[in-house]
Amino acid sequence: MNLKIGVIAGDGIGPEITAQAVKVLDRVFSLYGHTADYIPLLLGGASIDAFGEPLTEETIEQARNCDAVLMGSIGGDAATSPWYKLPPDKRPEAGLLRIRKALGLFANLRPASLYPELADACPLKSGEEGRSFDLIIVRELTGGLYFGERYTRETDGVVTAVDTAVYSENEIRRIAKKAFEIAGKRRGKVTSVDKANVLDTSRLWRKIVAETAADYPEITLENMLVDNCAMQLVHAPEQFDVIVTGNMFGDILSDEASMITGSIGMLPSASLNESSFGLYEPSHGSAPDIAGRDIANPIATILSAAMMLRYSFNMNTEADAVENAVRQTITEGFRTGDLIRAGEDRSAALGCSAMGDIITERIR
Ligand code: IPM
Ligand code: MG
Repeated sequence: MNLKIGVIAGDGIGPEITAQAVKVLDRVFSLYGHTADYIPLLLGGASIDAFGEPLTEETIEQARNCDAVLMGSIGGDAATSPWYKLPPDKRPEAGLLRIRKALGLFANLRPASLYPELADACPLKSGEEGRSFDLIIVRELTGGLYFGERYTRETDGVVTAVDTAVYSENEIRRIAKKAFEIAGKRRGKVTSVDKANVLDTSRLWRKIVAETAADYPEITLENMLVDNCAMQLVHAPEQFDVIVTGNMFGDILSDEASMITGSIGMLPSASLNESSFGLYEPSHGSAPDIAGRDIANPIATILSAAMMLRYSFNMNTEADAVENAVRQTITEGFRTGDLIRAGEDRSAALGCSAMGDIITERIR
């Protein structure tokens, strides 16, 4: 299969980490008899620098012509970067929101699991013996509070700001289906998270999710209020398999879920449309403070590339090969600096490209 993969290197550590993921992909493709063309695409700060806008129509068009897109990370330091002197709709993040919408990437998959070897880094009540969890957040990504009408107005000297949350039953149904399908390949449990004791969008959400559940009798559905879910994630994360929720709640809960793994540098994500197209990016940000120093952890981006193999190209064996190589690398004790805990010997910390090489060598 000859693939066309868009690569948004992005800002901050983005170029370093995507380079490692491409290295890994090249290795997998050559071992398994595929070829790929990589199409560089600009988004975020890099696009502002080149075109004065965080996303251009040309980039959207080019992305549409790819089979999938791999992304590093976008954005800079809001306190110091000139990008953040621009109006909100011209800043790097606006480009990200726009490309999600333009490409119809409504399903955002954010796995969070504890690697046994890294369980010490879990900040929850001290790495309780044998603590282990493995959950995935399925976040609706192109609706809700993020995409409703918003404005700020001044009336009689008083400024009022308005954001609206909108969900149609169709938007809810398609993300619910996604969650049930994913749960069917995992442990068969979906927790739908909302704020149905307050919000109309949440009451509709709950109703449509329950209706959808009828088509998946083998899946257990549970409803949970978002504030309780925030508590449960730090109290007993092992209770979760698939969490499905709206855009805003999913943004917050996925950050919380990534933090309790203690190793955010390891967590991938996928944003999928109705067909097999997807945009794959690490769950972490662009870390401008360590950009260009070859010390970032490339694993989240490498595992995002593995998700691309699995979800966009249906290459499960190839995806397993990448995930196994990462697991082996961790088991053998290789660590980038972020995975080394305070008080441990830091002298053996690997750089970003060395970590990429070691993983690449372990692909079978
Ligand atoms: C994320 C990020 C984005 C979001 C920001 C950068 C707009 O936090 O991908 O979770 O809120 O969706
Ligand atoms: Mg976020």
